[in-house]
Amino acid sequence: MEVKVKIRRYNPEKGNEPFFQTYSLDVSPKETILNVILQIRGEQDRTLGFRCSCRSAICGSCAMKMNGQGGLACNTQVENVISKDGEILIEPAGNMDVIRDLIVDFNFFWDKIKQVTPYLQYSGPAPEREHLCSNEEMIDLSLVTECVMCGSCVSDCTVLEVDKNFLGPAALAKVYRFVSDPRDKANDSRLSQASQYTGMWDCTHCFKCVEACPKRVLPMERILSLRKIAMDSGHTGNVGTRHSKAITDSVEHSGTLNEVTVMPKSFGWWNIKENLALIPSGIRMMRRGKMPKLLHPKLPNMENIKRIFRKFKKK
Ligand code: FES
Repeated sequence: MEVKVKIRRYNPEKGNEPFFQTYSLDVSPKETILNVILQIRGEQDRTLGFRCSCRSAICGSCAMKMNGQGGLACNTQVENVISKDGEILIEPAGNMDVIRDLIVDFNFFWDKIKQVTPYLQYSGPAPEREHLCSNEEMIDLSLVTECVMCGSCVSDCTVLEVDKNFLGPAALAKVYRFVSDPRDKANDSRLSQASQYTGMWDCTHCFKCVEACPKRVLPMERILSLRKIAMDSGHTGNVGTRHSKAITDSVEHSGTLNEVTVMPKSFGWWNIKENLALIPSGIRMMRRGKMPKLLHPKLPNMENIKRIFRKFKKK
């Protein structure tokens, strides 16, 4: 089939602005995007810059955006990303600085990983031969350890787009990987670090990392599990936990979200600085007629909601 491949080009050494270049070529619908790019470089344009190595979704080096979504070029087929017009848009991975064409600066990714101490921390006496774990203990880790550090999740993370301090889905999935490993003995410090600003509570559940991950690591699911582990183990003195509890309490009590109290409860009633900072938003809401009622009403039929809560609390 005839395809038009539109690639974002950028070469700072030549001093020009990024631009899109379109190549036409004949490929099979089953061909991988990486093979398409290799064909372009081999037959049409030797200046095209990109990374690849294993061509088997193992090394993680060919992550890029294909039709707006991050993923590995070597395990994405043409037929899965081609538009109705026969066009494929290829761009460098997001959230990282572009070095040239499809090559991004991965230091941003590695800095996040390094921050979470990405290795097993064991403090007991050294085992005679090896650390033995049961299959049951390790089964939950079998998917998360499949991560090939390709950065597709980081590329598509919507929180990183607005706050570069966020640890991001790859690093937080790595925290989960060690917190859930029975051999690791640093849960307390890992959970404490990940409970602060930039950590697990900053995820907004947009699902983009889950969609982009080529390895079923499900980073967002790991972050949600991490929150539960953190709360169950007493890491509750933070805005994220209070916010979660404020929302749950409000829905359990009235059936809906009490927008007047949720933020003060999240920051803490005596956190004068943060609460005063909410006043301008309150004034804007008032001007636009969106100010919630000060006396929060209950939904008429609360029994169903209470039944759901009773069911969850029993679990
Ligand atoms: S080339 Fe190794 S993951 Fe794609």
